[in-house]
Amino acid sequence: MNSPRKTTARLSTVALLTAATFLGSCSEPAPSAIAATNGAQTQVDPGPVVGAELAVLTSPPMVPPPITRDHATKLIVNLEVREFIGEIADGVEYTFWTFGGSVPGSFIRTRVGDVVEFNLSNAADNKMPHNIDLHAVTGPGGGAASSFTAPGHTSQFSFKVLNPGLYAYHCATAPVGMHIANGMYGLILVEPAGGLPPVDKEYYVMQGDFYTEGGYGEAGLQPFSMAKALTEIPDYVVFNGRVGSLVGDNALTAEVGETVRMFVGNGGPNLVSSFHVIGEIFDSLYPEGGNLPNHNVQTTLIPSGGAAIAEFKVEVPGTFILVDHSIFRAFNKGALGMLTVTGDEDLVVYSGKQDDRIYLAEGGAVQSMPGSGAVSVPATRTHDERMALGERGYVANCLACHQSTGLGIPAAFPPLAGSDFLMADKARSIGVVLNGLTGAVTVNGTKFDSIMPMLNLADDDVANILTYVRNTWGNEGEMVNLEEVRAVRAAK
Ligand code: CU
Repeated sequence: MNSPRKTTARLSTVALLTAATFLGSCSEPAPSAIAATNGAQTQVDPGPVVGAELAVLTSPPMVPPPITRDHATKLIVNLEVREFIGEIADGVEYTFWTFGGSVPGSFIRTRVGDVVEFNLSNAADNKMPHNIDLHAVTGPGGGAASSFTAPGHTSQFSFKVLNPGLYAYHCATAPVGMHIANGMYGLILVEPAGGLPPVDKEYYVMQGDFYTEGGYGEAGLQPFSMAKALTEIPDYVVFNGRVGSLVGDNALTAEVGETVRMFVGNGGPNLVSSFHVIGEIFDSLYPEGGNLPNHNVQTTLIPSGGAAIAEFKVEVPGTFILVDHSIFRAFNKGALGMLTVTGDEDLVVYSGKQDDRIYLAEGGAVQSMPGSGAVSVPATRTHDERMALGERGYVANCLACHQSTGLGIPAAFPPLAGSDFLMADKARSIGVVLNGLTGAVTVNGTKFDSIMPMLNLADDDVANILTYVRNTWGNEGEMVNLEEVRAVRAAK
């Protein structure tokens, strides 16, 4: 299965270069430290196992500190499986099965050559047996059979990490798909001898798809849906086990000028991730968690049960959005996170909006910005006229988020039909359409925290659309006229 020795000389040069790149600026291995080649994969001899230590385990998005020792060791990993009910989205509960109490499970950091003594404990109040299949293991089942553990028991097995890289692990107890779907996956990093190049920030992000009896955002405790899992159409696709796990106060952070390394995994159980950070480019990317770097990558495919290491320097401040670029998953199923970068602007790298001017597509005719008041419209319109025009305006500008039913999208965009927020204050509703809306609002007792953009509509359009919205789907309000819109705009 390996390349014959006669190809060694040529291949080993390539492999050495590869290993050196992966090792970054760290000290070059002495020639004697190069093990006999096994084809294209030359590995640095990890050396003898010296001493023993307890592995530091972390919950996402944190990562254990880099390994500084220059030798392999006996690494003791104590990991407990915990089953509990937690929130998968605001107001939506799910029964998670976890490695270490988080989804994804605890991050495990090892060095090539380490002999890992793995102790898998299954909490006594759990209901199910579990085990673990680590993709970093060379051995049958990745450890699955050796680690099958009933509630209230601990299983011990050991393995030597032979190959550096970033690997997924998961439960492999039948029904395997269900155990994974409930959150039983995580990442184990095997650092090369000499470690990874130093960076300023390291984070742990892992995608997963979830299948619930109720649709996205449907409140209450939602049981796992085997039917939906079999058809591979999830209700939730999330990073780190929850809608909003990396948003707002939970966003990842960095300072301008820092280099960020993301250990990104995909637990599946079904979907392949098109991982992308909006507004950034991966300077270095280790596809599939291996040690052959690619550079200048926009989006990387992460298979179910796979991983990638993405590294990039942040040059400008702002919010950079992590998404699965199969984009409905990001904006409608939860696969969206944030990296908040603070620091000084670099207006050469990114200027921000520099100007907003009239586009004279036809040349000479005098034009004006929508809403500036110069657009010629009748001073008055009938209620029926505004309703008809308003419906057209609604379809063009509002329907995608608030839907044709006016019911919005649960947990994302608030309803307009029967909305107490909308109907309580006519002037406020005009202001929202004129200026957009950010920050949390409560509509009919439910909190929404999404962004409504400024639509840049003419005053007449605003009057039409709001007349329509405030008098449709059972809403009953007065007509919104031009003067009222102009008054709100003037008051801004
Ligand atoms: Cu399990």
